[in-house]
Amino acid sequence: MLTGAGVSAESGVPTFRGETGLWRDYRPEELATPQAFDREPRLVWEWYGWRRDLVSKCEPNDAHVAIAERVLESGETRVITQNVDGLHTQAAEAVAESSDLSPLQRPIELHGSLFRTRCTACGKREASHAPIDASSEETLPRCAACSALLRPDVVWFGESLDPGLLTESFKLAGEIDVCLVVGTSAVVHPAASIAFAAADAGAVVIEINPEATPLSSVARVSLRGTATEVVRGIL
Ligand code: OAD
Repeated sequence: MLTGAGVSAESGVPTFRGETGLWRDYRPEELATPQAFDREPRLVWEWYGWRRDLVSKCEPNDAHVAIAERVLESGETRVITQNVDGLHTQAAEAVAESSDLSPLQRPIELHGSLFRTRCTACGKREASHAPIDASSEETLPRCAACSALLRPDVVWFGESLDPGLLTESFKLAGEIDVCLVVGTSAVVHPAASIAFAAADAGAVVIEINPEATPLSSVARVSLRGTATEVVRGIL
């Protein structure tokens, strides 16, 4: 299963594209590139702090829960997500009534997480849920080990995805029978290529999205509804 921002839309997390998408009001090159962070780390952290705060107030919706139930019951279903909101994990932990999930029960988070930081000097990654004080450069989060500036552990435009996660995702694409694609515009690669690769390898691709996307042409079925309307039923 490949998911995008649309699966979290009904939880209140804004999508990126479309009429109410984040990229309508914000410029990605000012907020989501390594150059932007080098230039103005305070502004970039302010934006990610705002998003962390917004997502912290959101709950997984019925689509996240249905997906989590499926993953935990079947032992064979995997979730690959472009989302950095952590809601698939939150739903899985709620369904399992435990935060002790196996790696196979966890989603592959291709684009990282809003709730993790990475040190700009030593590369150390850490879970991080606290609100961000972006009132000045001095108050930005710093590495406990080496004191260098921390950055959000998300993938920015122009950056490569984690090669291990990509290899695992494309391997899955080559092996699966069915690929459910929920709530992605399927225009950001290499994430979208995973679904195309699954179709090439013979998987039945089922798209769940109120709107047509470039993937619609290779999907065996396109279900034009929202995630909470369609996902539980199709699963
Ligand atoms: P987009 O914002 O590009 O697309 C969201 C998709 O969800 C659209 O196709 C909508 O039609 C659909 N959608 C909206 N509401 C929905 C609902 N309730 N149920 C189902 N679908 C719904 O988001 P992504 O495809 O995830 O990357 O964007 C891909 C990447 O572009 C993101 O991960 C992010 C962004 O720049 C990075 O930040 C690296």
